[in-house]
Amino acid sequence: MPEESIGFLNVKAAGMYIDATLGGGGHSLKILNKGGRVLGIDVDQEALDEAKKTFEIQNSNFKIGKEIVLAKGNFRNIATIAEEYGFKNVAGIIFDLGVSSHQIDDPNRGFSFSKEGPLDMRMDSNLSVTAKDLVNGLHRNELIEIFSRFGEERFAHGIATEIVKVRKDNTIKTTKQLIEIIESVMPAKLNRTAAAARIFQSLRIIVNDELHSLEEALPAACSLLQSKGRLVVISFHSLEDRIVKHLFSDFERKSLGVVITHQPVLATEVEISANVRSRSAKLRAFEKK
Ligand SMILES: C[S@@+](CC[C@H](N)C(=O)[O-])C[C@H]1O[C@@H](n2cnc3c(N)ncnc32)[C@H](O)[C@@H]1O
Repeated sequence: MPEESIGFLNVKAAGMYIDATLGGGGHSLKILNKGGRVLGIDVDQEALDEAKKTFEIQNSNFKIGKEIVLAKGNFRNIATIAEEYGFKNVAGIIFDLGVSSHQIDDPNRGFSFSKEGPLDMRMDSNLSVTAKDLVNGLHRNELIEIFSRFGEERFAHGIATEIVKVRKDNTIKTTKQLIEIIESVMPAKLNRTAAAARIFQSLRIIVNDELHSLEEALPAACSLLQSKGRLVVISFHSLEDRIVKHLFSDFERKSLGVVITHQPVLATEVEISANVRSRSAKLRAFEKK
């Protein structure tokens, strides 16, 4: 829902905006096309390299360092990053959470459960713990906890038990090995792909500490906004959406501004048929007092 999200940002020419999840630069480009100046942040060096190419080659009318500034960092440090690049009293900040299509499409990143690759799942290659470390190193009960809480997976016990059994003989190194374990536990009549998606999601959340990063980032982002500045968040699962909803209500209770989406905005059928990932997208927006 790129058009809708940019619509909620209410971009004004010469306004300063932060794209906290730069990815392929699609949102940043839309802001630039409306005359805004952008600080694009991503924790993934590959995303920054790709975005650099996008702006240098395909959209060279926007100069890096001038109309668009690219910064490597975790959005949990948005206050420090914004200060470093002189972005204060900004007119809007957008978070488009989760993994990019670039990350999913590259089997070497280990995010995809439809392609074989190493069990990695780090968005930031400087992180020291991978999904492989979790799957092979955690106690069975810790795996159950992760699969149940962060994947909301009802076969968490069975899958964790099978992982512990398999890893006694062989280290579980690839996405395919993990999928085979999940499939061996799940009854054939149930949707095994959905279960794999939930297990992968839960591991990804832990590897990248995604929920804590979001909890730290949103209050900091709210503080960076000027009066009438907008905060727009697109989330892809209920755990993220719950955090956004609660923090936005909290900002409202503290009289920091108003929530402008009383219900989350969902993708239309047309968008879903063009991009299946948008099926679970929920957009919420907040306006500073
Ligand atoms: C869904 S993609 C964004 C796509 C982007 N809106 C576009 O138009 O191409 C999410 C991006 O956010 C990045 N990301 C996720 N969590 C992050 C974090 N805590 N800090 C900074 N970047 C993060 C990912 O590396 C990924 O590139």
